[in-house]
Amino acid sequence: MLITPLEHTTMLHRRTLLSSIAVAAVLGAASSFSLAAPAADPIKVGHFASLTGAEATFGQSTDKGIRLAVKEINAAGGINGRPVELITYDNQGKSQEAGNAVLRLITQDKVVAVLGEVASSRSLAGGQVCQEKGVPMISPSSTNPRVTKGRDYVFRVCFIDDFQAYALAKFCKDNLKFTKAAILYDQTEDYSKGLRAEFTKFYTALGGTIVSEQTYSGGDNDFSAQLTSIRATDPQIIFAPGYYTAGGNIAIQARKLGIKAPLLGGDGWDSSQLAAIGKEAIDGSYYSNHSAPDQPQMQEFIAKFRKEYGGETPDALTGLGYDAMLVLADAMKRAKSLDGPTLRDAIAATKDLKGVTGSITIDSERNTKKPIVIVQMKKGQPSWIADIANPGDLKKVLEDLKAKK
Ligand code: PHE
Repeated sequence: MLITPLEHTTMLHRRTLLSSIAVAAVLGAASSFSLAAPAADPIKVGHFASLTGAEATFGQSTDKGIRLAVKEINAAGGINGRPVELITYDNQGKSQEAGNAVLRLITQDKVVAVLGEVASSRSLAGGQVCQEKGVPMISPSSTNPRVTKGRDYVFRVCFIDDFQAYALAKFCKDNLKFTKAAILYDQTEDYSKGLRAEFTKFYTALGGTIVSEQTYSGGDNDFSAQLTSIRATDPQIIFAPGYYTAGGNIAIQARKLGIKAPLLGGDGWDSSQLAAIGKEAIDGSYYSNHSAPDQPQMQEFIAKFRKEYGGETPDALTGLGYDAMLVLADAMKRAKSLDGPTLRDAIAATKDLKGVTGSITIDSERNTKKPIVIVQMKKGQPSWIADIANPGDLKKVLEDLKAKK
């Protein structure tokens, strides 16, 4: 084998970065070796996401966040010397496609772990496949409690919807002092149905009244019949726990019908498209979220993200995607091997990991406890107006509220 001195030094240098298998491959092909040769034997990680469809920004934002983390991890030497390779599949915002994408990632691409999804219904579909195949999955942002329930391979790095509903109900009743709310929710999404049920429990326990309740189905874009019924009950606020496309359209149509009450959403409104669709009709309305772009602790990440992606301001999903990858990388570094059960146990042991969206400890139910922020839309931008702390045992909080009434 002929190795020039220069190649030899380069190879020795690269040896510290590459695994022994990778170096063996490079040595075997010494004659064609060049600096551009990709490191062999990367660790494959899958991401299933809505890159197209009515929730396209969910998948796009998350993927950017994950890729930024992968870039940094690889620049710092990878996972114990092996680079991470991210494989992303679009599920078009459909649950069935989500299940198919995860199956393909596991059986065809042989990923060691899966990241995703944003929407709870899609995480439920993908999570079923991960659980059956014994491959760990981390959802960056699905908040429905059922996503991780009874599935010991499925984790998340965000809070769950009993807390989100509590925060929204408390903000509505105690901060805004509104006692009459209407609800307009998506009966086809687990996320929306769950938030509607939990919000109703907490809001009524806090002394509020739900004056009207209306439904729609994912993909609908005419809400005028429901809003006309709601208008007749004169609510002070309309809770619309769906995703951003519906949120923007509901705002436009409510104002057209002369409804002046602000709207209230959950984290599903988090997208630059909320204001692009809702325009000034969405101004003044509120939603709960994982982070806000004007929080001091987000500035470092936002600056880094803008530099990477041409000045674009990231939404909360990018930070959560970035953090999901950090949790996985940290677990992969600690794990003795990357087989499903070993990696799962390493993820479950995540404790006090410093993410951009806060400190992450995976609890016994594979969830993460974090505070919530409430933002108000001002001139098309979400503006941070309140923090709601997690009161801990929410079942007990609800019982205490009921006992007080
Ligand atoms: N929490 C939402 C769900 O479970 C998804 C979401 C999270 C959307 C954060 C936007 C921002 O469906």
